[in-house]
Amino acid sequence: MTSYQPDPLRYDGRMPYRRCGDSGLKLPVISLGFWHNFGDVDDLTESRPIMHRAFDLGITHFDFANNYGPPPGAAERNCGKILKEDLRGHRDELVISSKAGYHMWDGPYGDFGSRKYLLSSLDQSLERLQLDYVDIFYSHRPDPDTPLEETMGALATAVQQGKALYVGISNYTEELAAEANNILANMGVRCLIHQPRYHIFDRWIEHGLTDLLLEKGIGCIPFSPLAQGLLTSRYLDGIPANSRAEKNHGFLQKEEVNKKIDQLHKLQRIAERRGQTLSQMALAWVLHHPAVTSALIGASSVRQLEENTRCLEQLEFTNEELTSIDQAISD
Ligand SMILES: NC(=O)c1ccc[n+]([C@@H]2O[C@H](COP(=O)([O-])OP(=O)(O)OC[C@H]3O[C@@H](n4cnc5c(N)ncnc54)[C@H](OP(=O)(O)O)[C@@H]3O)[C@@H](O)[C@H]2O)c1
Repeated sequence: MTSYQPDPLRYDGRMPYRRCGDSGLKLPVISLGFWHNFGDVDDLTESRPIMHRAFDLGITHFDFANNYGPPPGAAERNCGKILKEDLRGHRDELVISSKAGYHMWDGPYGDFGSRKYLLSSLDQSLERLQLDYVDIFYSHRPDPDTPLEETMGALATAVQQGKALYVGISNYTEELAAEANNILANMGVRCLIHQPRYHIFDRWIEHGLTDLLLEKGIGCIPFSPLAQGLLTSRYLDGIPANSRAEKNHGFLQKEEVNKKIDQLHKLQRIAERRGQTLSQMALAWVLHHPAVTSALIGASSVRQLEENTRCLEQLEFTNEELTSIDQAISD
């Protein structure tokens, strides 16, 4: 238990909140995800200060999944404890999400998109998080072998049971997202949000998905907007100890860093001319897309979180800047 007292000025206007699609729910333009840095292998002395600072900065949305760790489940368990001890009195100020869709437990019922898996997993997440409900429950990825009606039906049941206030989808193509949205609408449930990967190097969502989201009034919360740390100053002088690319359990490959290094230096120079760091420019770039509600970042320190949220001081781009970003990554 700590004596944490949230900053009384946290809603003073520095953090903008955008409406999530056509829904009534507003999300902070920067949200914090718990994929890395909050597992049992991580330095948990940083976890508590990161969560406190995020809340003080107006970041009211924390994103989990059943399998975040390592080991799977650890991030929900470690942060559930902190939520209970330090933020219990602020539950109604927080939007907490979780997901199921990737491998979580052995046997035929611990993966993908069956009703059996999704609803059992949600119960397990609630127990680890020590919460009665999550605000958003996602299907983490489409399941090629389960009828979409069954997966969406499980999400609708989570809402009907009061275990989730809203539902979302993640990693769904434009076609599957359209189908999922129709099925949910027919069940009287809004598809609140889509969580896809999107950053300066990976623009797949611009080829149809974002048009669909705008047309249907579905929010969009891109994950890994910093390309897991590539689009920051982290790797400009090599691969530092303790960085994601250096860790065995990380998902960022050293080869990927080395392949991109020239482009990163070019992008860094553009950011400098804008009076920003590379991470600030990368976040502003994602937030510049009209379909985007919030950028879902990760952070391994309070310093990173603070640097990143200062992107809000310069969100506009000139056409010349946008063109030079495109050129920097196409060279
Ligand atoms: N739906 C899905 O399938 C899916 C998939 C992936 C992620 N997500 C969600 O998206 C969230 C964010 O993903 P992500 O962690 O890959 O996001 P990211 O923001 O692209 O990368 C975060 C990492 O970049 C580094 N970093 C961040 N700010 C920095 C700064 N200012 N200077 C230097 N380095 C900095 C840190 O890595 P170091 O550890 O090296 O310091 C940090 O852990 C996840 O936590 C999760 O909630 C969802």
